[in-house]
Amino acid sequence: MNVAVTGASGGLGRRIAELLIETMDPTQLLLLSRTPDTLAGFEKRGASVRKASFKNPTGLKEVLAGVDRLLMISSGDVDKRLDLQRQTVALAQQVGVQHIIYTSMAQPSADNPSFVIPDHAGTEQAIRESGMEWTFLRNNVYAEGLVIAGTQAVASGTLLTNAGDGGTAYVTRNDCARAAAAVVTTDGHEHEAYDITGPEALTQAELAALLSEVTDKPVALEQLDDDAYFDRLYDAGIPQETADLMASFGEATRKGFLKKVSSDLSDLTGRPATTVREVLERNRERLRGE
Ligand SMILES: NC(=O)c1ccc[n+]([C@@H]2O[C@H](COP(=O)([O-])OP(=O)(O)OC[C@H]3O[C@@H](n4cnc5c(N)ncnc54)[C@H](OP(=O)(O)O)[C@@H]3O)[C@@H](O)[C@H]2O)c1
Repeated sequence: MNVAVTGASGGLGRRIAELLIETMDPTQLLLLSRTPDTLAGFEKRGASVRKASFKNPTGLKEVLAGVDRLLMISSGDVDKRLDLQRQTVALAQQVGVQHIIYTSMAQPSADNPSFVIPDHAGTEQAIRESGMEWTFLRNNVYAEGLVIAGTQAVASGTLLTNAGDGGTAYVTRNDCARAAAAVVTTDGHEHEAYDITGPEALTQAELAALLSEVTDKPVALEQLDDDAYFDRLYDAGIPQETADLMASFGEATRKGFLKKVSSDLSDLTGRPATTVREVLERNRERLRGE
């Protein structure tokens, strides 16, 4: 079976490519990226690497011909993302892709206020309506992102949030990659939407306490409303779109959209999901600013 992966040079895509090249016949693996040169190492190991972008439908159609199973990694470029991803789904269907696997987001329902949700929900809908077999990997928030936010919180002694008492089932990108590789290389995942989560849902108060414990430095939690949280981020130099996005995630967390903990990840990979504590402990020195 011929497998293709879009976005193969991204943080998630590259990890998936590393897992796939170890577990499947590399001659049946096609890695697609806007920057194929960065994937030359995989080509040396027997995989095919081609230039492709959701923005170039003609090129996409050519490279997708003959692909049976497509892992479509959601684009990190949010400009016109939904239209481009819908177009890509239609092209995949036209050239005969049988099964499409899409990296979505936790709880992509209409009432979820996170700004990224309409793109994921719309892409899922297009895939469902395409007639291809489908699998959705609804990844929760990456735990690795906590290292950047945590470093700032430890340095200032304060973790800012608008998430109230809401929990987040943070999951590592590596675990997301393992789940994706498992779905790509085994059968029986048709018409499944998997909740790819960490092993527990942490509130921001629990996160502040954990940061404090791991770094041995005080971290207080400051709860803000959505507007005040946006203002503090913006005043600290974070671009408006990013501050808006972060506030929308906080609101989604507060409203319970990120708290679901699932065993889907461990069921797929056969190993327990990584904890936030493990991620923070691995990055203790960085968190301490050393
Ligand atoms: N769950 C979370 O917390 C979380 C956090 C951040 C992002 N995400 C989402 O998950 C995706 C994968 O995460 P990541 O860590 O790998 O992100 P990343 O390292 O920022 O990578 C960005 C991804 O977007 C792809 N991309 C950008 N423009 C594209 C285009 N025109 N056509 C096709 N692909 C395009 C890139 O592919 P190439 O560069 O190889 O072309 C790459 O795979 C992200 O793209 C984003 O949608 C989730």
